[in-house]
Amino acid sequence: MANYKLIIFISAILIAQWANIFAQQAGNTNAIYSGLAWYDQNGKVVSAHGANIVMKNGKFYLFGEVHSDTSNAFAGFNCYSSKDLYNWKFESMALPVQKNGKLGPNRVGERVKVMKNPSSGDFVMFMHVDTLGYKDQFVGYATAKKITGPYQFKGPLLFNGKPIKKWDMGTFQDHDGTGYLLTHGGMIHQLSTDYKSIIAETNPTIATGFESPTLFRKNDTYYFIGSHLTSWEKNDNYYFTAKSLSGPWTARGLLAPKDKLTWNSQSTFVLKIEGTKDTTFMFMGDRWSFPKQHSAATYVWQPITFTGDSISIPQYLNAWTVNLNTGAANTIRLNHKILLPNNKQISYSGNWKSSTIDSIPIIRSNDPKAFLSFKFNGKQIGLYAYLLPDNGYAKVEILNNKGEVVVKNIIDLYSKSPMSQLAFLSPILNKSEYQLIVTVTGERPNWSDKRKTLYGSTGNNITIAKLIIL
Ligand code: DGJ
Repeated sequence: MANYKLIIFISAILIAQWANIFAQQAGNTNAIYSGLAWYDQNGKVVSAHGANIVMKNGKFYLFGEVHSDTSNAFAGFNCYSSKDLYNWKFESMALPVQKNGKLGPNRVGERVKVMKNPSSGDFVMFMHVDTLGYKDQFVGYATAKKITGPYQFKGPLLFNGKPIKKWDMGTFQDHDGTGYLLTHGGMIHQLSTDYKSIIAETNPTIATGFESPTLFRKNDTYYFIGSHLTSWEKNDNYYFTAKSLSGPWTARGLLAPKDKLTWNSQSTFVLKIEGTKDTTFMFMGDRWSFPKQHSAATYVWQPITFTGDSISIPQYLNAWTVNLNTGAANTIRLNHKILLPNNKQISYSGNWKSSTIDSIPIIRSNDPKAFLSFKFNGKQIGLYAYLLPDNGYAKVEILNNKGEVVVKNIIDLYSKSPMSQLAFLSPILNKSEYQLIVTVTGERPNWSDKRKTLYGSTGNNITIAKLIIL
């Protein structure tokens, strides 16, 4: 065989193997799944936290923080695109770690937000810039000609020549294209016409804490959502409403049922999806998981329910769809076979204990050598867990019939507020025989903040409620 033919032949085999390993073709995901890892077109976990979404030519562009599993240090801001909000294609690292300076190595860069400037047509990116210990914060900005970047970091956004020395931030673009910067506490500043500086303080502080400021407008009402100040821990986010951005703002209470910790997430953005019949406002939140923020932090995206001018997320939807033509949101029922923990086809190694929580049968273990194994013939498998305050990280692997690992991820089963949820859903695989292995890692999310307050799980348990095969 001529050399070039050999190269083509070997490449074809490698591509086929690669496609088999990441047997998730783009366009396969059929819904918005909260609280579990999403995979991009390369089979890599989508890393885009503290995010926002910008629409351009019928496509959604998602910007968010890249994370590692080891530290808080700025690791860049990613950009993904999607035509349906379900399948995300990695586009670029829109702003990488700079060689040096305020977004260089060992710095903090968070809560990236991008808006298209209506007058220049440029894309302007805003972010929280800080030291690793969160002691010298300001709001920075970067600009690009193309939505996917590369973005040029320009330094602090100035108001009367001075930086805005705030940490959590967000942005809001009003119907007339005017841009606003939101900062923790509920302060709002108006951006200049080119979005590259600040020209006015629109609204003073309205609450203490009020991190992750997220603002949207429906008709003539502005809704301002924020969280309490609990580091990476989730809390009950709350909101205000007003008829003008300069207030007066009325406190309206919690966004989700009390003690559900905003369905175990923290707000970052609300996306308006306007259709021919309906408009869905999609709450976007982060389910942080320190320290394994890359592998195990996930996204909680839920449709907001309106009752008059009150908003809520009354129940948690594991999976839902939104029709981009009509604008309507729909819950979907997953058509699957269920296996409860006592199913004889599941084998357990190490020490496990069966019991029930709220009549839900569960099995749990914190034995560092424990794992469960289950052989199945199908194309997709999922796992419901009972998230609990003493749960830790589980390792999930799927092996093909040659024993090769085709999917591998770490999932976080911790929640300060107990709740049963879908915690893992594999990519869609080629229909075949596989083995699922779920292992206790002996690790858990826990950390302390700059005041040395301790947060996170009290144990390394993993608590499984059921497996589903689709
Ligand atoms: C909460 C903020 O909302 C996050 O963006 C991040 O800064 C964490 N605190 C850090 O503890």
